[in-house]
Amino acid sequence: MADLAKQIVVVTGASRGIGRSICVELADANTQIYFNYFSPVDLDAEKAAADETERLVSEAGGKAFGYSVNVASEEELAQFFDTVMGAAGRIDVLINNAGITKDGLLVRMKAADWDTVMDINLKAVFRCTQIVAKIMMKQRYGRIINMASVVGVIGNAGQANYVASKAGVIGLTKTAAKELAARNITVNAIAPGYIETDMTAVLPEKAKEAMLSQVPLGRGGKPEDVAAAVAFLASDKAAYITGQVIHVSGGMYI
Ligand code: NAI
Repeated sequence: MADLAKQIVVVTGASRGIGRSICVELADANTQIYFNYFSPVDLDAEKAAADETERLVSEAGGKAFGYSVNVASEEELAQFFDTVMGAAGRIDVLINNAGITKDGLLVRMKAADWDTVMDINLKAVFRCTQIVAKIMMKQRYGRIINMASVVGVIGNAGQANYVASKAGVIGLTKTAAKELAARNITVNAIAPGYIETDMTAVLPEKAKEAMLSQVPLGRGGKPEDVAAAVAFLASDKAAYITGQVIHVSGGMYI
């Protein structure tokens, strides 16, 4: 039976990093969080990380439920949202956060690496938004928050696929905001800069130094810095903000 007093939140890709931090930031007694995670390499480790997200949310006074779902799979996504609707009956906030990199110089980039990044970072955002927008339109309420990136605005050598996917997310965000505004649904994007997570931990030391040298605030960001912006956009205080890209990058783009 759906509990209408609860705020229902869906976060994609929340076993680790920014997604986990978002779950912990949003955790409270009135919120139920449904999140997913996936790894083509080590799903057991990813599940263990997801269990830790659930534990941290519970420690913060909330409830989170993690599901193994590859957002690149149309079937798995449809099943995931069916499960959420069966359990909760509504979705108030959707945070499209799952994302990956497969970096390489443009001239050497394999088409398969282009496709994988596009499928996970952009097509899945389209699919999740389409499914959830239909639910939110009936509710006449909703908040959609998409994780873009500062490089989707300024470009970055070695990341043609990733940058194109994030620029696409920004375009999708603006269009969805225009289409859904009349139903009281806001759609915004966040553009993080260099944030200390597993995604950036694997970068070569030189690439890290080059990124950090572009940050006026002179340090890398924490997942919590991004989660705070998400919490604001999901809150009542952001009711009159839609179609925007909020940069959380220590000033990498000004
Ligand atoms: P991360 O690598 O630490 O975590 C990625 C999360 O996405 C994990 O929970 C993983 O299970 C999930 N995931 C990966 N592929 C998936 C799939 N096919 N289906 C479902 N879940 C999947 O990444 P991080 O750093 O936390 O990034 C989160 C988002 O923030 C991504 O969209 C990323 O592009 C974006 N971002 C990150 C920045 C950074 O500096 N870390 C900067 C700008 C944007």
